[in-house]
Amino acid sequence: MSRTAIQWTTPPGLPDDHYVSAEVYTDPLLFQEERSKIFARTWKFVCHESEVAAPGDFRAIEHVGIPIVVVRGKDGIVRSFINACSHRGALLVTEPIGNVKSFTCFFHLWSYDTKGRCTSMTREEGYSQCGLTKDDVGLRQVKTAEKLGMIFINLDDAAEDFDSHVGDAMDDLLEPMGTKPLEVFHFHRVRLTANWKQWHETNMELYHEWGHVVNRTTSVAVDGYHNRMWSIHENGHGSLEPLNVQYKNYKGWESRDNLVLPGLQPGEFRVVDVFPNTTVIVRATTIRIDTSIPIAPGITLLEQRGLGIKGESAEDRDERQKHHNQFWGPFGRNLAEDVLFVDAVERTNRNGASQYGIFARHEGLKSQDDEIVRAYYRTWSRYMGRKANDPFDRSPALQDRPTSKKTRAA
Ligand code: FES
Ligand SMILES: [Fe+2]
Repeated sequence: MSRTAIQWTTPPGLPDDHYVSAEVYTDPLLFQEERSKIFARTWKFVCHESEVAAPGDFRAIEHVGIPIVVVRGKDGIVRSFINACSHRGALLVTEPIGNVKSFTCFFHLWSYDTKGRCTSMTREEGYSQCGLTKDDVGLRQVKTAEKLGMIFINLDDAAEDFDSHVGDAMDDLLEPMGTKPLEVFHFHRVRLTANWKQWHETNMELYHEWGHVVNRTTSVAVDGYHNRMWSIHENGHGSLEPLNVQYKNYKGWESRDNLVLPGLQPGEFRVVDVFPNTTVIVRATTIRIDTSIPIAPGITLLEQRGLGIKGESAEDRDERQKHHNQFWGPFGRNLAEDVLFVDAVERTNRNGASQYGIFARHEGLKSQDDEIVRAYYRTWSRYMGRKANDPFDRSPALQDRPTSKKTRAA
């Protein structure tokens, strides 16, 4: 039966964590709060170690609007700093990527080494009267961690270590990412007209694999697909038991028996979701790291990296790249479909045409169970101090309010 306006806007008669208010994707206040309560306090993937492979290699990025430079020191350790000169705050590094022996600010030429120590203040003697020395004006270091070649940062000095934050959530990546050196062979950004969480949901709720033309035949139709169990890890992370995807089931595609990454079976698919917005997907021969940069409630910059084995032959790289691009390249099947999926949801959420998203599937934690998303939003709620189904406490208490079912019956 179709519904009236009141029925349509009445919260679903479901437990609180089984649906999400569209406000969590569209409200500017919540978006700002997410910056301070989530992104400024939790670990954020920023790049792969191969992007800063040599001493002095750096990448300048922005995280919650704060410029940050990630640099490999002469000692081989990757560190991060707020990309602001200690003197008057000028942006220290203005190139997005490069290699330096030291950083020199272009304003009054103060210099810093790759450990963030100030090594030179122009005409330093002018500060002797007030006692300001180089030791007082080092860069602001940002907590940095590396796991399986992935580099994460955390703006919160008091945050727990990355290893305890992530626990065993990345264990499925130990062999494919931790055996041979890998490198990024593909990088591109996609501007999504969607909220950053709408994208991350597509990486978690595999119910939407029905929407992917390739996945219907190569994955969903494969024996064992619906028997894989999700592991719900603490702090909003998730990982799913592997599946041997049958790539040859899609017309014109071949099975992935060669160039298989360490520890994997031919065709093997693995997925690891890391809170708040990073996903690693392994597809037998290639790996995609997917993360996002929230720009506005309905605009997200998606960053995609494709990984292969460092030093492999051009022929092998071509094959691996082909496998990567079949799914996730700019013209890949799944990337294009996912972009359309999230755009379609955002278009109805934006102006209140739809008000709730439902994550109510129970399949005993198997592939298309929504518990992974529910657990994610429970973590979101913990950081935000708000309920994802009613972030502004607009609804009366659950026991008092009419549910859709009750309204329908009336
Ligand atoms: S602002 Fe950098 S040296 Fe003055
Ligand atoms: Fe998808």
